[in-house]
Amino acid sequence: MGENYRFRYGDSLARSPGAQLPTDGGTPPSLLDLAAPVESRVKFLGHALHQQLIPFPFGLLVTAVIFDVSYLITDSQELANVAYWMIAAGIIGGLLAAVPGLIDWTAIPKGTRAKKVGALHGVGNVVLLVLFVASWLLRRDQPTAPEALALGLSFAGVALATVTGWLGGELVDRHAVGIDDGAHADSPHSLSGRPASEGGRALAR
Ligand code: HEM
Repeated sequence: MGENYRFRYGDSLARSPGAQLPTDGGTPPSLLDLAAPVESRVKFLGHALHQQLIPFPFGLLVTAVIFDVSYLITDSQELANVAYWMIAAGIIGGLLAAVPGLIDWTAIPKGTRAKKVGALHGVGNVVLLVLFVASWLLRRDQPTAPEALALGLSFAGVALATVTGWLGGELVDRHAVGIDDGAHADSPHSLSGRPASEGGRALAR
């Protein structure tokens, strides 16, 4: 294996400046595949839909737990009731967000770390949603006074979210999943109809 290569802006390999290439002139296609970003398959206004939807379940479910903690401190039934409805909305948001996430996951090349990280992230988030569904069902009879198990399940769900959320960040930041092919600091905007690999004024300097 040869030296480290640094690629030009606009090259799909530019995201892997440390990539090891053979010195015999040939670049294995498998390496090209691995080094290129994995573009999202489900976009809205040029951006990955999964990334646009996930703030809803995350925000709602984490805030529900904050309301639960506030309920435990203040004993305010209103806070518990708000948490109950936030959990319901968060579950619906999570189910909606999971669909484009799953579709994007199918685009990740088989046998890569990203594929495993994505599977762990996806399964972890499904477990998270199951925890919140169980918590919500336990609250249904008396939403204003949740029992200890119902509270424990949602606390466990948020603890799990810190792990699955981090794994989601790994997918984007470390494995370039949901990143446009050839993206760089001077790419044209995503509604321009031009590929992200165009542009690159920075090179001319
Ligand atoms: C409640 C459900 C889910 C939540 C809250 C969630 C959350 C996240 C977060 C926080 C990221 C990182 C986004 C960023 O840093 O910009 C992410 C990325 C990602 N997630 Fe999920 N996720 C969920 C379900 C799923 C499922 C079921 C899959 C299927 C395997 C999945 C696949 C992905 C993929 C492929 C990415 C990379 C970015 C993209 O393609 O849009 N997610 N997710």
